[in-house]
This record gives sequence, C-alpha cells and structure tokens, in this order.
Amino acid sequence: MRICMIGTGYVGLVTGCGLAEFGMKVTCVDKVAEKIEMLEQGELPIYEPGLKDLVEKNVKEGRLRFSTDIPEAIRNSLVIFLAVGTPSDDDGGADLSYLFNAVDEIAENLNGYKVVAIKSTVPVGTAKQVSQRVVSLARNVAFDVVSNPEFLREGSAVEDFLHPDRVVIGTESEQAVAIMKDIYSPLYLIETPFVITNNETAEMIKYASNTFLAAKISYINEVANICEIVGADVHVVARAMGLDGRISRKFLHPGPGFGGSCFPKDTRALYHLAKEKGYDPALIGSVIQVNENQKRRMVEKIQRMVGGNLAGKVIGVLGVSFKPNTDDIRESPAIFVIRNLLKAGASVKVFDPAAMEEAGKVFDNTIAYANNAYEVAEGADAIVLMTEWNQFRRLDLQELKNRMRSPVFVDTRNVYDPQKMKQAGFFYEGVGR
Ligand SMILES: NC(=O)c1ccc[n+]([C@@H]2O[C@H](COP(=O)([O-])OP(=O)(O)OC[C@H]3O[C@@H](n4cnc5c(N)ncnc54)[C@H](O)[C@@H]3O)[C@@H](O)[C@H]2O)c1
Repeated sequence: MRICMIGTGYVGLVTGCGLAEFGMKVTCVDKVAEKIEMLEQGELPIYEPGLKDLVEKNVKEGRLRFSTDIPEAIRNSLVIFLAVGTPSDDDGGADLSYLFNAVDEIAENLNGYKVVAIKSTVPVGTAKQVSQRVVSLARNVAFDVVSNPEFLREGSAVEDFLHPDRVVIGTESEQAVAIMKDIYSPLYLIETPFVITNNETAEMIKYASNTFLAAKISYINEVANICEIVGADVHVVARAMGLDGRISRKFLHPGPGFGGSCFPKDTRALYHLAKEKGYDPALIGSVIQVNENQKRRMVEKIQRMVGGNLAGKVIGVLGVSFKPNTDDIRESPAIFVIRNLLKAGASVKVFDPAAMEEAGKVFDNTIAYANNAYEVAEGADAIVLMTEWNQFRRLDLQELKNRMRSPVFVDTRNVYDPQKMKQAGFFYEGVGR
C-alpha cells in the first residue's frame, strides 16, 4: 500500500518511518525544502534516539522516500496522513491553518478514492470540517476522513510507535476502518488494543489523555509546594501514592512545570474549545494556572537562593530541552526561567546535550553557551538544573563547586539527594522536599 505523510516533523518522520517498517511504501513530504534535502542526504532534521538507523534501513530497502512534490505524493497514494503542526493561536485555540493548507492540496489532487488520516492533534469537530472542505473543492470524488491521533513521546518515539499502548481509529466508514486495520496489522501480532470509534470521540480521546497527564503533573507540583511549607518530602509522598494501583507512579514527578510541544497547547486548546461551547472547564483552567505559577516559583526560588537579587548574578543552566533525549525546546520551562533571569538582570550560561542549536535560535547572543556542565559552573553564582539528562545525574560535585563563585544548586528535577548535596557543601534546594 502506498502512503503519503504530509509533515516531516517529530510525528510525521517517526510515523512515516514506522509505517515503512510495517511494510508500507511511504513518501514523506514537507513544504520546507531544507528538511527534505537533509533527509535525502541521510541527515535527520531532529534529534530522536534510534530514528536514524530506522530511516537508513527503510530507505535502503526501498520503502521510504522523501519529496517536496506534495501533489505527486498525494496522487500516488491510497492513504494520506496529515502530521502538520497545530500550534496555539493567539486565543489559546488550535491554529489549523497548516492543516487546512495541506487539506486544500489533498482536495486539488484527489484523483480517486483516498483515505485522509489526521494524525495531528486537532479539536473535536475538525474531521468533519476537513470533510466539508474536501467536498467543496473536489466534487464527486469519494474519500473518507479518519481521525487517528498519535500518542508517541519524543525521546522514545520510535519504540512508542512500534509498540503503542493502543491505536485509535475514528471514522464512520467501514472501508476506511478496513484500510487502517490493514496498515496497522503488524500490531495485531503483539495484541495491541484497537479502539474503533467515530471521529469526534477519537479527537476527544487525544485531548482528554494529554490533559489528564498534564493534570497529574500540576497536581503533584501543587502537592510539592504544600510539602515545602509543611515540611514533608514529596518524593516519599509520590512513591507511596504511586504504589496504589488506582493512582500509578507515572507522571507523579514534581518539577518546574510541564512544557513541550503538546501538553501546554493541548490543555489550552481543550479549555478554549469547552469555553467556546459554553462550558466552564474549571479543573482544566486550574491545571494551566498551576503550571504557570510553578514556572514562576522556580524563578523566585533561584532569586531567593542567590540572596534576593538577581541583578549582576551569573546563573548556569543545565538543560534547555523540555525533557531529556530530545532537542525540542518548544514551551520548555527552561525558556521561561532563562527569560525571567535575564529580565531580572542576571547573565545566563547554558549547556544542553542536544538542544544548543535550538537554544541559539531563541536566545541568540543574549546568553552564553558552554560545552559541558563544568564550563557552565565556571564563575557561576548558582547552578539550575532544568532538564534531567543522564549526563547531569552524576556530576563531579567537587569539580563543580570549585569552579563556582558560590555553591548554590537549584535542582528543579530533584535529581540529587538533598543530604548528599549538603555534605558536599552546596546550598541546595529541590522541589517539594
Ligand atoms: N511532537 C509530539 O511529541 C507529538 C505527539 C503526538 C501528537 N503530536 C501532534 O502531531 C502534530 C505534529 O507535531 P510535530 O511535533 O511533529 O510538529 P513539527 O512542527 O515537528 O512538524 C510539522 C511539520 O509539518 C510541516 N508542514 C506544515 N504545513 C505543511 C504543509 N502544508 N505541507 C507540508 N508540510 C507542512 C512543517 O514544515 C513541519 O516540518 C501536532 O498536531 C502535534 O500536536 C505531536
């Protein structure tokens, strides 16, 4: 079966490559020519563990190719996946302009029955709008729109795509269900649950899942903040909570607030959608508010730890990506923290194992860039650990301390043991302990 994947970003590239691995003939297209050129030369435009080998293998075996000729790829495919970005618009809703540009291109090149599969995260009702748009532009050609949300996580995207917890297929068409089941048939062998439902329910499943995970993070962050006041240790609290099977220990790690390309925008989009429909989503509103407060608390913590005034202080930041094993810094809490440190008059030095180039695009020459954690420490008044990369888990504490102007360590990910940090001579603070 021939497949066209529109959008060659974190989701499109992994999904396209994964479907090729399942035996499909996949053409990944993007409107950014540089990305396609890189891919054609065997380079990846993103950092994602395990992806390069899989791309190489499937290109070599003739199942995967890259192109900027979007019309040709559409015309030659039975199924067209949409994996373009759906960022927040100014009101917090989802900006669907990339999606509808791609939909128009599909409609203009509809030369026979095709399935349009929406992988992008889109508000409930979008599949119906896509359908109407295609009908209005391409009369008398049969097609089906399937909502097929993606649940992969950056940093373990390849593994997640090949071994998903579930596959959601939303459509009213039996023919489209049969085609989608065929595409994902290798997953039957590993007994992956399939949820077959209508478009609206499939669209809602994605938002409800992401918002729930975001809520879990905001919840434990709130508990952590209360722990700080009452003298409890949130780590022990979270562990004991997680031992309850109804709660589960996952996503109970306190930190600087959630970030990334999904949770913030998807939580806002669901909030916005509910409001638009006349419902006040009070809980979701609080999830967003608690997260904003949490990021602000981190800045206040740093300020307090350096004696109350950030002006003139040198702050070393470890990690810029929103989580380890990715170069994605979209809405990373580190960006918020760095911006506010600069605003308060501090100078900032950063190191991230994968996201230095991305950080450079945001901060240009307003901050300094180091080659490793020890360079970050050089002359610093405080170190702030923002991303729990493995490289930062076992730093040589004496070496770090020797290089610093004052041994202040703010650990927004609770990587280090407070007692050991104290013994090593640091003024140390984590979150909620
Ligand atoms: N990143 C994740 O972890 C993740 C996980 C699940 C779902 N999602 C959802 O998947 C979608 C894509 O996310 P992403 O992180 O891969 O985005 P991304 O920004 O990394 O990639 C989107 C790509 O689409 C391309 N594009 C945009 N308009 C196009 C057009 N008209 N024609 C061809 N190419 C076009 C862009 O150039 C870009 O390369 C979003 O809706 C997101 O919410 C993301």
